[in-house]
Amino acid sequence: MRDVVSKRTRYPGPITEARVHPHSLVAQGFAEDAALAAVLDRYPADLFDINLYDYDAEGQVSLRTGARGRLSGAELLAAIQQGRLWVNLRNVETGWPELWAAAMDEFAKVQATYPGMKAVTNAGQLIISSPVAKVPYHFDPAGVVLFHMRGRKRVFVYPGDEAHLPEKNMEQVVARQTTEELPYTRAFEGDAQVMDLEPGQALTWPIYAPHRVENLDRFCVSLSMDFQTWPSRFRNGALFANAVLRSRGGRPRMTDRMATPELAARWAASLAMKRAGALKSRIATFERDFEPEVGVADGAGALRA
Ligand SMILES: [Fe+2]
Repeated sequence: MRDVVSKRTRYPGPITEARVHPHSLVAQGFAEDAALAAVLDRYPADLFDINLYDYDAEGQVSLRTGARGRLSGAELLAAIQQGRLWVNLRNVETGWPELWAAAMDEFAKVQATYPGMKAVTNAGQLIISSPVAKVPYHFDPAGVVLFHMRGRKRVFVYPGDEAHLPEKNMEQVVARQTTEELPYTRAFEGDAQVMDLEPGQALTWPIYAPHRVENLDRFCVSLSMDFQTWPSRFRNGALFANAVLRSRGGRPRMTDRMATPELAARWAASLAMKRAGALKSRIATFERDFEPEVGVADGAGALRA
């Protein structure tokens, strides 16, 4: 039998496997309908991601994206609760400062359980999603704490080894040459650590570990907090530098074979490369496919001019 627990990641860090921590954001009232409708009402339209995911029999994903449209907060909430939508509000740190302050207090408690962990930046996304929504296999180039606040979701966390998380793909994501999706096959399923989250539970996992999420037939609300540490900054910089070298025909060493001084040197080089505009982002601004609507299939109505 494969040893799936002790080899969850090839990247050093204080978090060695997915683990649940308690949090108090639900008890503080942040996930109630009235609070959600109010925040949806006032949130800046350019900070919304509205996605509709479809999967084929092999689990391969296709994505449609929605415009914010003109529904009120309460109507948008109803469209999410009845539909098949995944709505992400970016920059919670400025968009909902009261929630953010409470979440940072909770983060400090989580961080204190991992000796040596010290975040230098944190950012948050509030994810409000339909009962049947599923997020495809991907990784985040950051540490993550997922504060689950409402509904039930099942999180699948996979090993961060070369088979599940090829460094070439990581480079492409870090250098914004592609979105965060990784090659996925159903054969990975036997390698997943599977955790069911209830409101009041926060989940964290080893840095970079690939993961995917299935809502368990309930409307779901979670705050996804990502964070950088100095080691993650160094590695992201090294991955960016490697992407640049690779784009010029180089064959860079994998970062998992670099010690801290080499990672730090590559990070420093990446800053100069970024200043020089070495690699332009290839992530196009998406054409929108729909607008949220109440009482239509999937909660996805036609775009209106
Ligand atoms: Fe993620």
